[in-house]
Amino acid sequence: MTAPISGFSKLSKAAKIKWLTTHYTKDPEASTQLLAAYWNQDTALQQLHDEFIENTISNLYMPLGVAPNFLINDKLYAIPMAIEESSVVAAASKAAKFWMDRGGFTATVLGTEKVGQVHFIFTGDFQELNSFFKSIQEKLYADSAHLTDSMAKRGGGISAIELRDKTDDLANYYQLHCTFETKDAMGANFINSCLEQFASTLKNEALAYDAFTEEEKHIEVVMSILSNYVPHCLVRASVSCPVESLTLSNEIPPQLFAEKMVRAIAIAKAEPYRAVTHNKGIMNGIDAVVLATGNDFRAVEAGVHAYAARNGSYSSLTHAEIKDGIFRFWIELPLALGTVGGLTKLHPLVRLNLELLQNPSARELMQITAVAGLAQNFAAVSSLVTTGIQKGHMKMHLLNMLNQLGANTAEKDQLIVHFKTNIVTHRGVADALAQLRNPS
Ligand code: MEV
Repeated sequence: MTAPISGFSKLSKAAKIKWLTTHYTKDPEASTQLLAAYWNQDTALQQLHDEFIENTISNLYMPLGVAPNFLINDKLYAIPMAIEESSVVAAASKAAKFWMDRGGFTATVLGTEKVGQVHFIFTGDFQELNSFFKSIQEKLYADSAHLTDSMAKRGGGISAIELRDKTDDLANYYQLHCTFETKDAMGANFINSCLEQFASTLKNEALAYDAFTEEEKHIEVVMSILSNYVPHCLVRASVSCPVESLTLSNEIPPQLFAEKMVRAIAIAKAEPYRAVTHNKGIMNGIDAVVLATGNDFRAVEAGVHAYAARNGSYSSLTHAEIKDGIFRFWIELPLALGTVGGLTKLHPLVRLNLELLQNPSARELMQITAVAGLAQNFAAVSSLVTTGIQKGHMKMHLLNMLNQLGANTAEKDQLIVHFKTNIVTHRGVADALAQLRNPS
């Protein structure tokens, strides 16, 4: 049934779908209809989506929710979140409300430095290379002026270009380790263009450098690319309140709750198996905002997890303490985000989401996103150390289960009421639906 194909990308959308559904699906007609059902009715909008990537055959929707009542640095936000996982938006909203009543969140950007590297091989000695590097340093900047001009007008540009000797790690391996300030842009294109220019200058100048031997003149540039590890593009968000104000529910006294939170965080700091899940919960909030604002969640994920392991052992991104009767809970993480460029102006919903956030600068978006992660972690860990997460989670999951079982609207309404006072399990939901349909 399956077959290789050449020139697939050159086919029309309809021809691609025809080939694909004929070769890979049991019912090509039904599959074709399903793909079309997810197209946007507005053909211009669909074309926009078609052109984001190659070989677009349809759209995979994700719910866009909003978590209101986030008081951050005394400003109130409703945070858009694109996420498919039940209970994430509900949890964020609950945490937002809880902390709004206790003074809200404080967030600070600790740094905005982005990184890129030119990785190269040089067969001579480091001192020689270093003299050469010093001699071309000005030229590296001058040759890239055409790329940096407009960024410079916005107050950004190349912050530093450093030669690093990496030969202890790999024979003949050196790099230009470069740092950038990209203001409101995430800056990937800017950084990569600069790096490729540095690489070209490096190679050309080496060829003309008299002090190099013939072999040394041929510097081999292996690659020029930004790094998604940005430990100095860092943001901190925190909440605090007197321990006695931690009145989460009647079931747990504030002091005990605070102690349990601190202990849970200590476990996530000490134990990588727990830390990964702990941080996953944080990323539920972070990724949802990153996606909703048209940023690159893969880049953020990669950088955040590397940061979580920066001391040699994977650990919690959040921290908690009780000091002088005050409970303090905070997060520190790298977030390379942009509010201009990329999808931000191109995707109409992303544009709207940024408007909902009152068109933040990249720094503000870093703060908002970090807060979403902290709120998510507060919600998850406070459930874990009290009721456990399944109670709330399964309630939110109930609709998914009912939809999966093919319940109609009337059945869903009745069973939602039923499960207000009954424990939600897959078996329990299936049985209750069967019972409703066939009371005997
Ligand atoms: C589920 O998506 C996230 C949690 O597992 C996070 C955590 O355990 O802290 C609830």
